[in-house]
Amino acid sequence: MSDHDVDDIAFLTGSPNESGFMVNKRAMYEPGAVMVCSQKRACCVVTLGFVAIIAVALIVAFTKPGCPEATYTGEPLPGQSIRPTSSPPTTPPTATNGELFPWTSVRLPTHVRPLHYDLSLHPNLTSRYVKGELTIKLTAIEETQQIVIHGHDLNVTSYKLHNKYEKPIGISKFLEYPAHQQLYLKLDEILRRGSNYTLRLSYEFTLKEGLEGFYLSSYKTANGEKRYIATTHFEPTAARAAFPCFDEPQLKAKFHLSIYREPHQFTLFNMPLQTSVKAEDSDLILDQFQESVEMSTYLVAFVVCDYDHVTNKTSNNVSVSVYAPPMMISQASYALRMATQILDFYESFFGVPYPLPKQGSFLFAELRMHLGYLCSSWL
Ligand SMILES: *[C@@H]1O[C@H](CO)[C@@H](O)[C@H](O)[C@H]1NC(C)=O
Ligand SMILES: *[C@@H]1O[C@H](CO)[C@@H](O)[C@H](O)[C@H]1NC(C)=O
Ligand SMILES: *[C@@H]1O[C@H](CO)[C@@H](O)[C@H](O)[C@H]1NC(C)=O
Ligand SMILES: *[C@@H]1O[C@H](CO)[C@@H](O)[C@H](O)[C@H]1NC(C)=O
Ligand SMILES: *[C@@H]1O[C@H](CO)[C@@H](O)[C@H](O)[C@H]1NC(C)=O
Repeated sequence: MSDHDVDDIAFLTGSPNESGFMVNKRAMYEPGAVMVCSQKRACCVVTLGFVAIIAVALIVAFTKPGCPEATYTGEPLPGQSIRPTSSPPTTPPTATNGELFPWTSVRLPTHVRPLHYDLSLHPNLTSRYVKGELTIKLTAIEETQQIVIHGHDLNVTSYKLHNKYEKPIGISKFLEYPAHQQLYLKLDEILRRGSNYTLRLSYEFTLKEGLEGFYLSSYKTANGEKRYIATTHFEPTAARAAFPCFDEPQLKAKFHLSIYREPHQFTLFNMPLQTSVKAEDSDLILDQFQESVEMSTYLVAFVVCDYDHVTNKTSNNVSVSVYAPPMMISQASYALRMATQILDFYESFFGVPYPLPKQGSFLFAELRMHLGYLCSSWL
C-alpha cells in the first residue's frame, strides 16, 4: 500500500513529459509490463529447448539398431528370442521343411482376423499327451491368399479351410517357422474381403512342467502321494503353446472350450460349466463350457485338477471360488473372504459391474512349497 503511494508521488513530481515518464516508470516498476518483454524471450528459449530435446530424441531413436516391430528377416540364434538388427539379413527365414518362410515379420499380417475359437482338448495327465481339435472362425479384412497364425511346439496333423457355405478351399502349402512361432498357410483361392471362413486344425503336443502355456504341475497329498494337475499360464505370448491362434492382444475373439477329464477330476475355464457328459467310447467325462465374452488370447485360462474348493457370493451375486489341494482347503477361507471383498470394492470404486458370472482364484501348492499363492487368473 505504501509502495503504491510512493509510486504515485513519483509520477506527480516527474518530468514534464508525463506520459513518456509514466511508460518508463511502469516498465520499471510494474511486474506485468516487465514480463511482456521477457515472456516472449522465455517462450523462445523454452521452445528452442523443446525442439532440441525432441531432435536429440529422434536422432537417438533412429540411430538405434531398430525397434521390436521392425521387419526382421535373419535367423535368430537357437533358443533366443527375436533380436532385430540393422545389418542386412544373412540367411532368409527357413521353415522346418527347408523351404523359404514367406512371412518375415514377428507380427502377424492384418489381412484376416479371428471371430471365434472352438477348442476341444483331450489332455492325459498320466501320459502327458494332449490332443487338440480347433475350429477358428475368421473374417478377411483384405483380399489375401495366405493365413499366418501363431503356434509353438504344436504338431499340426491336419488343416482344412472352408468358406461360409462349407465349400473347401485348397491349402497348397503349410509351413512352420519355429523362430517366430508362426504357421503359414498358402491358399489356392483368394479370400474375399468381408467374408467369413472356417479354419479347422488338429494337433498334438506334450505337457511340460514349464509354468508356461498349458503345463503340468503337481502336489503331494497328506500321505505323500504325488498328484498331477494341468493348468495354463498364457500371458503374454504362451497361448500359442496350447492351441494355434492369432496371439496378439488386439485380435480379440470369443472362446468356447470342451475338455476331456477323468471322473475324479474336474475342469475350470473362464466361463461356467455348461454340460458334463460321459464320453461314448471310454470312462472319461467331456465338460463343455459357455462361450466367453470377446477377449484376448492371453486371458484364456483352463485347468484340469482334483482340487477342493470353497465358494461364496459377492453382494452383486457373482460367484467367487478358491481352489486348493484337499489338504490345504482349510487355509482358503481368508483368500475367499478377501477375493469377495476386493471384487465388491472394485465394483463400487470403478462403478462398473463385474462382467462375468463368476470369478475363481487358484491356490497353488507347488511341490514342497507349503505356502500357497493366489493366482489372479480369471477362472
Ligand atoms: C490317460 O492314459 C491312461 C493310460 O495311459 C488311461 O488309463 C487314462 O484313462 C487316460 N486319461 C485320459 C484323461 O485320457
Ligand atoms: C461373419 O461372422 C460375424 C460373426 O459371427 C457376423 O456378425 C457377420 O455377419 C458375418 N459376416 C458375413 C459376411 O457373413
Ligand atoms: C511332434 O513331431 C515330432 C517330429 O515329427 C516328434 O518327434 C514328436 O514326438 C511329436 N510330438 C508329439 C507330441 O506328437
Ligand atoms: C459368505 O459371505 C457372507 C458375507 O460376507 C458371510 O456372512 C458368510 O459367512 C460367507 N460364507 C462362507 C461359507 O464363507
Ligand atoms: C443370485 O443367483 C442365484 C443363482 O445363481 C439366483 O437364484 C438368485 O436369485 C440370485 N440373487 C439375486 C439377488 O440376484
